Amino acid sequence: MVDVKKIVVVGSGLMGNGIAQVSLMAGYNVTLVDIKDEFLDKAFANIEKGLKKSESKGQLGEGVTADALMAKLKRTLDLASAVKDADYTIEAVVENMKVKKEVFKTMAENSPAHCILATNTSTMSITEIAKDCGRPENVIGMHFFNPVPLMRCIEVIAGEKSSEEAMETGMAVSNSLPCLRGNRYVAKVLIDRPGFIVNRMNAPGQIYLSWVFDQAKEKQIPWNQIDADGGHAMPMGPCELCDYVGLDTMHHVMEYYAETLSPNFKPGKVISELVEAGNLGAKTGKGFYDWSGGRPKIDKSQKAGLFDLQTMMAIMLNEGCRILEEGVASGFKIIDDANMAGMNTPGPFGAGKKNFEAWSKLLDEIADKTGAEYLRPCELMKSGGFVKMRK
Ligand SMILES: NC(=O)c1ccc[n+]([C@@H]2O[C@H](COP(=O)([O-])OP(=O)(O)OC[C@H]3O[C@@H](n4cnc5c(N)ncnc54)[C@H](O)[C@@H]3O)[C@@H](O)[C@H]2O)c1
Repeated sequence: MVDVKKIVVVGSGLMGNGIAQVSLMAGYNVTLVDIKDEFLDKAFANIEKGLKKSESKGQLGEGVTADALMAKLKRTLDLASAVKDADYTIEAVVENMKVKKEVFKTMAENSPAHCILATNTSTMSITEIAKDCGRPENVIGMHFFNPVPLMRCIEVIAGEKSSEEAMETGMAVSNSLPCLRGNRYVAKVLIDRPGFIVNRMNAPGQIYLSWVFDQAKEKQIPWNQIDADGGHAMPMGPCELCDYVGLDTMHHVMEYYAETLSPNFKPGKVISELVEAGNLGAKTGKGFYDWSGGRPKIDKSQKAGLFDLQTMMAIMLNEGCRILEEGVASGFKIIDDANMAGMNTPGPFGAGKKNFEAWSKLLDEIADKTGAEYLRPCELMKSGGFVKMRK
């Protein structure tokens, strides 16, 4: 395993500056790279603010100060020189394959032979990013959740050519990074499939949601009644949640899974129309609801009876079973734990052990209603075979 002392974080945006912050807190020497000084200025200010806050809460450890950690943070616009003495790099640049490939080529050509090269991509193939860099065996995925200092989960993903040593080093570095809200949880992702574990398991629920929205529009059911269907178990109902996440993000993610998993992910009419009209949710002030005066007050006194949380759990269990069938994770406990650590919500296997038969029927019904074959239960779910599998 590589003895990691210096980490280079490439891209200092939302994710990159959080990654740099936790790397400093773990005691590494860190260099942050971006393409413009103004981006690095902003990132440095954010990191310093985060570290000072941690210092004031006593989270940095005995005698460790924010100033001392900031002194271990370097910056540059020159990636090739930054990686010359790096042991480990974490790429967090824009989600664009061409840009990522260029970054990996520069890193592979200019870093020492032992240096492990990790990518924080959320939707791209690790294998493809690594393909032309010259050292694909050193490349792994290292998928963080936003905000990095507060979210416990990191998924470490093996590309087709990733070496055991690269994976082991990735797991060790991930485990060493502190989390300010509970213990760090690192999930080993055994093969490179779209969405890895957590995002993948939560993806097909969007097929169902998109259908619910279209049905509601057709039947002229107001959005607040759909949110009322979510009940108290959902702090935000489906419409409010989509507004909060951003309808453009949801649209983009569905298009991605439509290309990589199944055409059934194609976004429906309501989502497409909202995006086309520029009503993207909270960030534009309008989506399903009006956000111009802050978080909308939603009357949940009357239910529509259209959206059902059990169905969402059944869909998650089905996708969790597909993840097991494909060999993406070694057992169902990892999937449940990763979901808790990445989404702050329980995974489906606990309840699924008792409910897989009823839920399989539910999925057949929903597949009939929506016409989305992807929602039909897979063999491992129908048979309950996952119960007997390794945890
Ligand atoms: N935002 C999330 O919630 C989230 C979660 C998990 C993973 N990710 C992934 O993390 C990556 C970064 O996302 P983000 O939200 O931080 O984006 P961001 O736009 O906030 O930051 C990207 C940064 O990369 C810089 N950059 C662009 N090209 C560069 C280059 N050639 N060299 C160095 N820096 C370059 C940009 O100037 C910018 O500062 C993406 O791959 C994204 O898919 C994002």
